[in-house]
Amino acid sequence: MEHSQTSSNNLQSYWKTCLNNASQELQTTPIVACLRGTRLDYLDDKEVVLSARYALHLEKLKGNTEATVKIVNQLLGKQNCDVKLALGNFDKEIAAEKLKEQEKQKEIEKSYKERWDKELQYLTPQTKKKWIESSNIPSLFKEKTFDNYESKLQLKAYNYLSQYKYEDSLSVLLYSPNIYGIGKTHLVCAVINNIINKSDIGYVSNSGIIYYRCPILYVSETQLFARIRATFNQSGENEESVYQQYEKVNLLIIDDIGKVKPKDLSFVQSVYFRIIDSRYTNGLPIIITTNLNLDELEAHIGGACADRLREMCGKDGFIKMGGVSYRKNNNTGFQKKDNKPQIESHNDGW
Ligand SMILES: Nc1ncnc2c1ncn2[C@@H]1O[C@H](COP(=O)(O)OP(=O)(O)O)[C@@H](O)[C@H]1O
Ligand SMILES: [Mg+2]
Repeated sequence: MEHSQTSSNNLQSYWKTCLNNASQELQTTPIVACLRGTRLDYLDDKEVVLSARYALHLEKLKGNTEATVKIVNQLLGKQNCDVKLALGNFDKEIAAEKLKEQEKQKEIEKSYKERWDKELQYLTPQTKKKWIESSNIPSLFKEKTFDNYESKLQLKAYNYLSQYKYEDSLSVLLYSPNIYGIGKTHLVCAVINNIINKSDIGYVSNSGIIYYRCPILYVSETQLFARIRATFNQSGENEESVYQQYEKVNLLIIDDIGKVKPKDLSFVQSVYFRIIDSRYTNGLPIIITTNLNLDELEAHIGGACADRLREMCGKDGFIKMGGVSYRKNNNTGFQKKDNKPQIESHNDGW
């Protein structure tokens, strides 16, 4: 009851404001003069209900229906709204009923939205955990973040990636020719954690919760080729659906390009071309890391891919990382004796 009273008062003050805001020209018309003697009982996008205090006003308005409808629409900023005119409180009950219905509907919508909001909040932490899993982040790097990265060692890469937003559609190439263990994988995994941490898992719409998919996928070059090769024996995953994943995800990270020593270079290049060209065409970014130098990288992925990559990275997206291996500086037992750049090899115990 109190509710509809308030709404009715709101309607009256709104109607007064509309009348007062009418142009000078309208103010002086007899129709507006008569409308000043009406109250606004109901309003939605299709219908306006006005009740006149005096029969004389009602008669005048009804005698000029077309102009009245036009002016009322104009005053309320509506288009083609039906205008119902009544005397005194004749339609007041109907209007009050309609208002009540309208409010009930609003209440229902509000309570649904509140419930969905709660559900969304409740589901957020567990969905983010699932996203971390489905991002394929290497398990040893799940805890790697910008907070546990010594930024001063790689200031440029740190600054660029800690501010990185995939929505800007800019790609990044981190490369450290012949230097290993300086935190490339750490940094890209920090990007994964950072983005998943900050992302919404969905939003509440009028018809319920709309969920997003995990925006990031990590893959090392070795995994990428193992996965594609595995599709050739028909029993496992479908080749097309594997490509689709790498082509469609908002942000793709390919770690350690150049690790695979190709027997068939044209096959390697055709895989990269398909993925990079599709992402290029769709404006989707990619983050790549490699221990190759730029010439070697181009020879590995092919000229056409390198061309696209140059454009996708923009002028700031090529980041060369130097320095010495973090593993070496913070060694956990094994140390190399010489001072040569370290070459990671599977034979020397690394
Ligand atoms: N600047 C740094 N601050 C903290 N940890 C680092 C840093 N650089 C490297 N590390 C750590 O050293 C190890 C090797 O780094 P990694 O990211 O694998 O290097 P890369 O991918 O360049 O070979 C990881 O455990 C990583 O967390
Ligand atoms: Mg690495």
